[in-house]
Amino acid sequence: MNGKLDDKPAIKPEETLDPEDWDELRALGHRMVDDMLAYLESLRERPVWQPLPDAVTEALQTPIPRQPQGAQAAYEDFQQYVLPYPTGNIHPRFWGWVMGTGTPFAALTEMLAATVNSNMAGGHHAPNRVEAQVVAWLRSLLGFPDDASGLLVSGASMANLIALTVARNAKAPFDVREHGLPGGKHRMTLYASKETHSSVQKAAEVLGLGKTALRLVDVGEDFAIDMDKLELTIKTDIAMGYQPFCVVGNAGTVNTGAVDDLQALADLCRRYDLWLHIDGAFGALAALAPRDRHQIAGIEQADSLGFDLHKWLYMPFEAGCVLVRHRDEHRRTFALTPDYLAHGERGIAGRFDWFSDYDVQLSRGFRALKVWMSIKAEGIDRFGRLIQQNIDQARYLGRLVEQTPQLELLAPVTLNVVCFRFNPGGISEFSLNRLNEKLLYDLQEQGIAAPSSTLINGEFALRCAITNHRSRRSDFDFLVQQVLIRGGRLAQTITQEWAAVK
Ligand SMILES: Cc1ncc(COP(=O)(O)O)c(C=O)c1O
Repeated sequence: MNGKLDDKPAIKPEETLDPEDWDELRALGHRMVDDMLAYLESLRERPVWQPLPDAVTEALQTPIPRQPQGAQAAYEDFQQYVLPYPTGNIHPRFWGWVMGTGTPFAALTEMLAATVNSNMAGGHHAPNRVEAQVVAWLRSLLGFPDDASGLLVSGASMANLIALTVARNAKAPFDVREHGLPGGKHRMTLYASKETHSSVQKAAEVLGLGKTALRLVDVGEDFAIDMDKLELTIKTDIAMGYQPFCVVGNAGTVNTGAVDDLQALADLCRRYDLWLHIDGAFGALAALAPRDRHQIAGIEQADSLGFDLHKWLYMPFEAGCVLVRHRDEHRRTFALTPDYLAHGERGIAGRFDWFSDYDVQLSRGFRALKVWMSIKAEGIDRFGRLIQQNIDQARYLGRLVEQTPQLELLAPVTLNVVCFRFNPGGISEFSLNRLNEKLLYDLQEQGIAAPSSTLINGEFALRCAITNHRSRRSDFDFLVQQVLIRGGRLAQTITQEWAAVK
């Protein structure tokens, strides 16, 4: 037996991810806050965007570190390889896609949310009530009844998916959760304009309805859905034995910001007993704009509404919201409570409704905190003024385009989207598309400004979607000036190329 005890392996100290030296981490944390605020304060001085150098791309492909390099070194890597090369959407001259900018204060609240790190599946805790409060605020702003359900989601794509799942289950003449979707005679169909965002098609595919179940209806010159064609399509489908169940209306289409006639859609849906879902990804929050809220009148009549807070409420990603008028249908679609998730009357799991009973997700992040604190800090009217400011800026840019002979407005400016192109005259349609595409790359790659692009009736458009609280009218003056200078240069090159070919 002698010596046996000495052979026992030494007991290693147990590990944790809390710091050994709290003061050291505290100092680093303070530095991070100072650096990030300084970074935001000086945004305007930097290019809107810059391409990733190859060396950085390589530096972001290392083998997984097995040994600690330390928090300080990890932060330095972030500063060196990540911070200089973001998407650019926080810059005052970023207007691509529909992004949103975030705010310095909301960035700070993200740290608080990660610190308490509540799981927002549900339960008896204050964060749960914060989300309920935010949803209640949004519900009342958008004119939904007090008993409507709602929750924060990752974005409008997820809001659309959740809402359309409820719509499908509520309107199916059979129990979809139990039996899935039978093919053949019960082919369920839904309707939306051709200008509808691709997330609706994705939802139709994910829901097992298939792409062709989504009937895409023509739009008028205003890019809003043609109501007569919509009704005709529905009638034809009914006559052919399909089961129409839902219309998706647009409060702000992605291409041009067009708004469907929401009131007329609500009337039609009532007549045909169809679910009305409205994709208001950005447009829904025009409800806050003092002089333009009338443009989305009727939105409050929807059965469900999806919209983003990371677009026109300027929150950092991710934050979207879905509201459903029929709470029971919503719950019936998603609630599933196995033994290990029982939420009884008391304890941590008890007392309040679980958000996961209304969501695809079980574990959910504390997205609500940034929204709750930002609305408290700024007051919702301030957001309304900023949204109005963006709409006014879009009109300003639209006017600049119309007043400039070498520029052409390609779609009416309804809300905050401006589609235009450089067209000095005497250039073929095909070459104009190439020219404007090159112009877009030039503006982005030189860090001047970041519109994105789309095709309007086949014409390549520079597209500005203004959901940016940092933009100033002078930024649009600068954009137009640069488009003229750079477009002019490109046009010259094209003309010289032609001359060389001839
Ligand atoms: C009209 C519309 N619907 C849906 C979406 C999808 O939103 P998200 O990217 O937040 O999922 C967008 C995004 O731009 C949009 O413009």
